[in-house]
Amino acid sequence: MKLIDARKDHYRKLAHEQGFRSRAAYKLKELNRSYRIIGPGFYVLDLGCAPGGWTQMAVKLAGNRGKVMGVDLSYVDEIPGAHIIRENIEDESIIDEIMYYFNRKVNAVVCDLSPQVTGNWSVDHAKQISLNYSCAKIMDKVLMHKGNAVFKVFDGEYSMEFRDYLRKKFAKIHLTKPMASRKQSSELYCVCLGYSN
Ligand SMILES: C[S@@+](CC[C@H](N)C(=O)[O-])C[C@H]1O[C@@H](n2cnc3c(N)ncnc32)[C@H](O)[C@@H]1O
Repeated sequence: MKLIDARKDHYRKLAHEQGFRSRAAYKLKELNRSYRIIGPGFYVLDLGCAPGGWTQMAVKLAGNRGKVMGVDLSYVDEIPGAHIIRENIEDESIIDEIMYYFNRKVNAVVCDLSPQVTGNWSVDHAKQISLNYSCAKIMDKVLMHKGNAVFKVFDGEYSMEFRDYLRKKFAKIHLTKPMASRKQSSELYCVCLGYSN
């Protein structure tokens, strides 16, 4: 077995054993260990949350005093400790629904958005970055001062422009690839700390 396949298998097995719905949960866990994006008592908004691995991990990291909401176009089975809504993040009217649930601004916004891929790399990349700009619009309305964010980025022509756009809003930005992310995938994660509004 190749090292990459062994690692892929490792995270899938872990997710199965520990009751996480996706191996992606370990990407958030790893990012959080390095950058402390989510802490106990945090209010967390998870955009593009199906099937729910990040939401489950966010519930765990935020603990009893935290509050977590997940949003996806797809149906997501209930997650204890989280509130899930089936909506399109490109629809800005969901901001009211988000603020109604939290009743204050959130400490962290995490985005693991992927469009339905067409197989045409430039189209998929452009669409993924465009989804990220939509998330950033929501973030600007709901994230508290000094809050944190994470964005998955399909790396390509527009990724640095998106990173620079975020750089103006945060004290620190880190572009990184967690071990749990497949080596051959072109995804990166942009970790943003210390929002200034
Ligand atoms: C890679 S999956 C997220 C995996 C998730 N973080 C987990 O750990 O289980 C990406 C998700 O983005 C969602 N998505 C794509 N476009 C969306 C949109 N416009 N509004 C809401 N969700 C969207 C997809 O439905 C898909 O479920």
